[in-house]
Amino acid sequence: MTDFLDNSPYDERLEKIEIESLLEALFKRYGYDFRNYAYPSLRRRIWHRASIEQLETISLLQNLVLHDRDAFERLLSDLVIPVTEMFRDPGLFQILRARVMPILKEASFIRVWHAGCATGEEAYSMAILLDEIGMLNHSRIYATDISEASLQRARQGLISQERMSLYAHNYEQSGGKAPFASFYETNHGQAMLHARYLERIVFAEHNLVTDRSFNEFQIIFCRNVMIYFDNELRERVHALLYESLSPGGFLVLGNKESVAFTSFAGRYETWNDEYRIYRKPR
Ligand SMILES: C[S@@+](CC[C@H](N)C(=O)[O-])C[C@H]1O[C@@H](n2cnc3c(N)ncnc32)[C@H](O)[C@@H]1O
Repeated sequence: MTDFLDNSPYDERLEKIEIESLLEALFKRYGYDFRNYAYPSLRRRIWHRASIEQLETISLLQNLVLHDRDAFERLLSDLVIPVTEMFRDPGLFQILRARVMPILKEASFIRVWHAGCATGEEAYSMAILLDEIGMLNHSRIYATDISEASLQRARQGLISQERMSLYAHNYEQSGGKAPFASFYETNHGQAMLHARYLERIVFAEHNLVTDRSFNEFQIIFCRNVMIYFDNELRERVHALLYESLSPGGFLVLGNKESVAFTSFAGRYETWNDEYRIYRKPR
């Protein structure tokens, strides 16, 4: 008999067994596979949920979420982190506008994929860039996420006025010249993105861990998603993204992400190191 069973229930080894068992149970019961997410942040978020539910052990949390779908949904909302902005990292959008969009414009039809789109703001931003080059009606934007709750918000195109002031600032910083208010209507303190942008975006559930490639794209954004994955999972997701890019297509990652240290490092041309833009050779 190992000695750690006599110790505090928060013994690290016991805790790891409980977390692994919880993740296994979530996968078997609900089909969500978090087994290869980075452990420290997963651990933090699981404990956060356990403490809100006033549970002293992760095993008790497992028992709750297995028997109560609503409790599972609450845990899920802690495990996905739907933080996003329109024109997030304005410097990136400046480079896209100046150097990438003119290349995309050469195609007769542009397919864009936002993998891990959260509440859709990145896809809205791309719709605006496509409009600026006169390609909005010759494009289709696929914006996917594992969180149906985030996707439901994304489809509505509703943003609070407060967020809109931040986004207007980002847009200007990214070199945008139009009045930002020309992209939406306001109603009861909320901004609603014009339908002509929303109509070009297909919001759909897609899990990068368990689902396959579903099309070929000229540009894929997968920003601030793989940061939560371990190395093995990153490698698998990179394979999926590479397969989904057309030759000459662009991959855009988040500013703390990179293809370096993956087996795909040598397969891309680094188009812009600072803003993590990579190009698949033709
Ligand atoms: C921090 S947000 C990033 C949003 C946006 N890409 C950005 O950078 O502004 C991370 C998103 O990844 C999503 N996500 C996490 N795991 C995923 C998976 N396995 N497949 C698809 N999306 C996932 C989460 O639901 C969340 O909406």
